[in-house]
Amino acid sequence: MESTTPAPSSPGGTDTTAAPAPFDAALFRETLGHYPTGVVVVTAIDDTGAPVGMVVGSFTSVSLDPPLVAYLPTRTSGSYARLRTSRHFCVNVLAADQQDLCGRFASRAEDKFAGVEWTPAAHGSPVLPGAVGWIECEVTEELDGGDHVIVLGRVLDLAVQRPTLPLLFFQGGYGRFALPSPVAASDPELIEGAQMAEAVREPLEALARELGADCSVMARVGSEAVFVAATKSGGNEPGSLAVGHRIPLIPPVGTVFCAQAPDEEVERWLSRAKASEEDRASFRENLAAVRRNGYSLSLVPQSPTDRVALMSDYSGVDVLPVHERRMRQMISESASLYEPVLDPEQTHDLHSVIVPMPTEEGHTRLALRLSGLPRGASVAQVEEWIAALTAVADEGARRLRERAARAGVRRG
Ligand SMILES: Cc1cc2nc3c(=O)[nH]c(=O)nc-3n(C[C@H](O)[C@H](O)[C@H](O)COP(=O)(O)O)c2cc1C
Repeated sequence: MESTTPAPSSPGGTDTTAAPAPFDAALFRETLGHYPTGVVVVTAIDDTGAPVGMVVGSFTSVSLDPPLVAYLPTRTSGSYARLRTSRHFCVNVLAADQQDLCGRFASRAEDKFAGVEWTPAAHGSPVLPGAVGWIECEVTEELDGGDHVIVLGRVLDLAVQRPTLPLLFFQGGYGRFALPSPVAASDPELIEGAQMAEAVREPLEALARELGADCSVMARVGSEAVFVAATKSGGNEPGSLAVGHRIPLIPPVGTVFCAQAPDEEVERWLSRAKASEEDRASFRENLAAVRRNGYSLSLVPQSPTDRVALMSDYSGVDVLPVHERRMRQMISESASLYEPVLDPEQTHDLHSVIVPMPTEEGHTRLALRLSGLPRGASVAQVEEWIAALTAVADEGARRLRERAARAGVRRG
């Protein structure tokens, strides 16, 4: 392909005397504006004893050993002239909901601290309320950074104060971090899933009442399952599963959705678990069991992880990478709980029973789930639950077929 950009001159080129092309400051700003930054307020107590602070995007961590950070104030900054009268400074990482505070500390207002209930860090530098975290430092060097100064600081003390989403600055505007969720609220798979779930609502609610358990409908949306209907009937699952909760389909979670799936899809599902060959083999065995049986079982975990709270964090608008990691960890730790072989001589504490809702399309879009079940169930009891849930799934499928036939007649 022909290049439209001129080739750079070779190092041995002849024209070494030409004046450098005039620097395009607008292009510099425009290009660097495409690089996002966090937003911090650098604070200190100036030589008159008054608190001073300025908003800075040019903050960076520099070194772990020794622990150094840096920020770059412009040489003409009035706030920096006051900040540098102190040996110490504090970096306050602003949260996504602190845009007002950001505006105030980016202004030239006389007293930016008016009405702000700051607290002093160990060396007196102001810590701002509501900041995500703060880092108190001692200035070690002021280096030349052109029209800016590179202020190097040794970290003395630091803490995460409010582990929430930070404020971000990008292309001249403010925003917030978002994980690349495969589920969008307007996703047609989600809307259709919710509409299909309506077909089972009535029999599912009846079953929930009868068993005193929680029943829900999960719709497969991309690589996740979303709860599109949930009944509450005083089951003993801690917390409360709600419509909109999501769970990533990472093995061992999601076997019922893979049961009818072609090999490539099964491989994609398996590849989502960062698992050993041995673990993969056992996930394949799980899938084979679900294909054979037509349902998926899981046991109550020994550790008291609040799974619903994890799911709630993961499904929230402000989902953080840490929530995603915790969800992954919970799923991987639960691997041994899925598809147990139940001993008829023993009783069992079942966490969930999941059955696919059959559709004629040849792949599973919806699954029904029972949870919050009474503990200490006999195998006969578990079989009754499976049969009852399967009957609801079949009834739902029948209603969906009828609905499709009616729609067909209307269209015809
Ligand atoms: C998002 C954002 C990032 C900023 N980053 C810097 C920076 O890295 N260095 C700097 O000198 N000023 C920066 N500023 C500007 C100062 O916060 C602010 O204009 C200044 O403190 C007020 O001027 P003064 O210091 O002369 O009173 C930034 C402003 C905003 C809104």
